[in-house]
Amino acid sequence: EKGGYDHFMLKEIAEQPRAVADTLLGRIDGAGRLTLDEVRIPGSVLREADKVVIIACGTAFHAGLIAKYAIEHWTRIPCEVELASEFRYRDPILNRRTLVIAISQSGETMDTLMALRHAREQGAKVLAVCNTNGSTIPRESDAVLYTHAGPEVAVASTKAFLTQLVACYLLALYLGQVRGTKWGDEIHAVVRELARIGDEVERVLETMEPVRALARSLAHKDTVLFLGRHVGYPVALEGALKLKELAYMHAEGFAAGELKHGPIALVEEDLPVVVVVPSPKGRSVLHDKIVSNIQEIRARGARTIVIAEEGDEAVVPYADHLIRIPATPTLLQPLVSTVPLQVFACELATARGNEVDQPRNLAKSVTVE
Ligand code: M6R
Repeated sequence: EKGGYDHFMLKEIAEQPRAVADTLLGRIDGAGRLTLDEVRIPGSVLREADKVVIIACGTAFHAGLIAKYAIEHWTRIPCEVELASEFRYRDPILNRRTLVIAISQSGETMDTLMALRHAREQGAKVLAVCNTNGSTIPRESDAVLYTHAGPEVAVASTKAFLTQLVACYLLALYLGQVRGTKWGDEIHAVVRELARIGDEVERVLETMEPVRALARSLAHKDTVLFLGRHVGYPVALEGALKLKELAYMHAEGFAAGELKHGPIALVEEDLPVVVVVPSPKGRSVLHDKIVSNIQEIRARGARTIVIAEEGDEAVVPYADHLIRIPATPTLLQPLVSTVPLQVFACELATARGNEVDQPRNLAKSVTVE
């Protein structure tokens, strides 16, 4: 049932191109328009929403953090993202014009379920992004957009995460479409690229051997840090979460701009630091800033592991290890930059003799608060 792979996680990482394609299937028409009528939320609700609030846990929360960038940029609706476990305890401001998006692979996470019940009690409309047909979270929501990742067995979420991103991009674009956001060249390019992003994920998977070798060489380390900016920041958080749960290592993700506000004090000789570099085009200011961050940490002895787009030559002199990813529109980069981090964590866990599919102390679906 593992299809020839040693672990479900490896199988599920390999299934990502298909999972992404399946989640896109039938949802973009030939003219590049979104066809999400299945979501069945009245157009008036989508048009009148004055705030989006995303609730989720763990990896799904990281998908939500990335979704915020897309929703605010493409629709100009303010968007908050909150850990479901914190949400209802702080008396959040919700009303009929709040659109709540609950993201959950299993559809059974108790923290997310309790947060969505609270949101509905306050009159908010809840849309679930979920991978499990007929599970509790979609059943209790006003609407649902299913991800089509197929069953995810490994405790560490991989293909579900990529499909959650796809679903959130589709939703953000759909919200823009319904609200009449100007459909300029940027959006056309994004839709075109999204439609073929599964092939780019496949290309990344074909180049993972050096990442595996690097992971094995770091098996004796205690700590790995992850840095990113913009949508690369949640990717850094996700890379760190994967390493914690699988390799049982101390791993932390930071926004690269925060380095100088404290975390840089952690950098010492030979500390592995993974840096997710934004595209040199479009957000070039951020790109330049992260290149100087890489220089700074390297000057303090860090071993830099740099994930950068093909053709980004500026990072080459400062990268002890360079992992190439295909160039994509800025907001879509997490779909390709997350993949090496999943492979990295899986291989490190194996090298440390850990149980990859069933990490200690964890359950696939967390049905207690
Ligand atoms: O089923 P859900 O998406 O609601 O689960 C949320 C988290 O428990 C889950 O993403 C967890 O963080 C994973 N083990 C991460 O790999």
